Amino acid sequence: MAFSIRTRLTFWYVTLLTISLVAFGATFSYSLLKIFMNRTDNQISSVANMMVHTVIKPSGQLFLPRDFDIILERFFGIRTAGNYIQVLDPHGQPVAKSSNLEALSLPITGDTYNAAVNGATTFEIIRNVGRYPVRVVTKPILLKQKGLVAIVQVGSSLEGMDEIFHSLAYIFILGIIASIVIASAVGWFLAKKALKPVAEITKLARKIGAENLNERINVTTAQDEIGRLASTINDMIGRLEKSFKQIKQFTADASHELKTPLTILKGEMEIALRSKDNMEYMREALKSSLEEIDRMNYIVRNLLDLAKMDVEKESLPREPVNLEKVLKERLDHFKRLALDSGIQMYILKSSPVVVYGDSVRISQLMFNLIDNAIKYTPRGGAVELSLGEEDSRAVVKVKDTGVGIAKEDIPYLFDRFYRVDKARSRDVGGAGLGLSICKEIAESHGGSLEVASEVGKGSVFTARLPLAAPSPA
Ligand SMILES: Nc1ncnc2c1ncn2[C@@H]1O[C@H](COP(=O)(O)OP(=O)(O)O)[C@@H](O)[C@H]1O
Ligand SMILES: [Mg+2]
Repeated sequence: MAFSIRTRLTFWYVTLLTISLVAFGATFSYSLLKIFMNRTDNQISSVANMMVHTVIKPSGQLFLPRDFDIILERFFGIRTAGNYIQVLDPHGQPVAKSSNLEALSLPITGDTYNAAVNGATTFEIIRNVGRYPVRVVTKPILLKQKGLVAIVQVGSSLEGMDEIFHSLAYIFILGIIASIVIASAVGWFLAKKALKPVAEITKLARKIGAENLNERINVTTAQDEIGRLASTINDMIGRLEKSFKQIKQFTADASHELKTPLTILKGEMEIALRSKDNMEYMREALKSSLEEIDRMNYIVRNLLDLAKMDVEKESLPREPVNLEKVLKERLDHFKRLALDSGIQMYILKSSPVVVYGDSVRISQLMFNLIDNAIKYTPRGGAVELSLGEEDSRAVVKVKDTGVGIAKEDIPYLFDRFYRVDKARSRDVGGAGLGLSICKEIAESHGGSLEVASEVGKGSVFTARLPLAAPSPA
């Protein structure tokens, strides 16, 4: 059976309290008993000693008057004060006893008698004399010439102590029961108070869904464990909220991006239908339609790429990739385009750098960066490529003398579908996915992608990738 934390806390609290109280009660009673016994023993001992000196004459004869306790008190000033006194002969038979014993006598066990014969004094508690237990000291009288002449027994009723211990036990039991009741109630209440934030967290977690991710747990005490738990959960909800927003934004952007070419496509088709016999019109419309289809194709391909990369982040193929080779291939690929755009493109410096990763993706990363550099650089400009090593990382730089990027756009540059100048980018083709793909590629390889730019002067994109461990050869 599973108990709630509140029940368990209360249970432990009460159990501990009960154990402490019982332990305290037991120690207290034991100490008190010890003190009491010591006092009683001292008292009966001293009476016994005086008895020894009183009942034996200097000649060694026993002196045993009847009612001797009264005589003791009158003539010798020994206050028997309620003590039972008994004198036994060497065989253990009573020969005299104090008047308060009346018909009773203090029994002597075999062990005690043997101890007395051997000269030892014994203290014990005897229970069958009168209503209350009696503490009894048994002391032998030994003379050098005669050996054992008598045994003196002095007993003191433990009546007072018995009463005290009864009342004490009564007080303790009542006290402990009352404490348990009070402690249970207080513990139950305190546990509820301590666990209130947990109840709040549970309540909130129960009602949170995709629609109300903006809700947060009310953190009152941030310093304690529960406070930290609450803020951790808040942070987690925060991250979820952000991811949700991004996904929503992404879906909206993707639909929008696909809708534009579809609308254009529809328009073109309608023109084509209406142009009937005009071949020239028809051709124009079809050509334009093809362009839109290419555009959609491009967007969908990029979207697929991004989706794929999200999924395969962990399982990218890993092989040695010669960056210098890839860079040269990319240069060859763009040579024609650069020439047509009136842009000078060259490799400033390069070295045989090898990284470990997916050659297709790395090639795509360079493609996108060079593609952008040419797209956003006017005629007469230059695109400069370089490859090197820095802090055991491969560094690829794509630098252009193009339009540059304003400071306020830079934080969003790598976001999906982000374009600085939407109208212009549409002319040059592109959906704002290129750089987010680049960043994704760099990061999935354990690298980074950064940009430095100045409006009107140009931009530098720097990709850093971890070097492949140098092969033993
Ligand atoms: N080399 C560059 N020079 C100036 N602006 C750039 C450069 N590269 C990218 N940008 C800006 O960043 C935006 C996002 O780039 P990208 O993700 O490749 O999208 P796309 O090229 O499809 O527009 C571009 O629209 C452009 O405004
Ligand atoms: Mg691009």
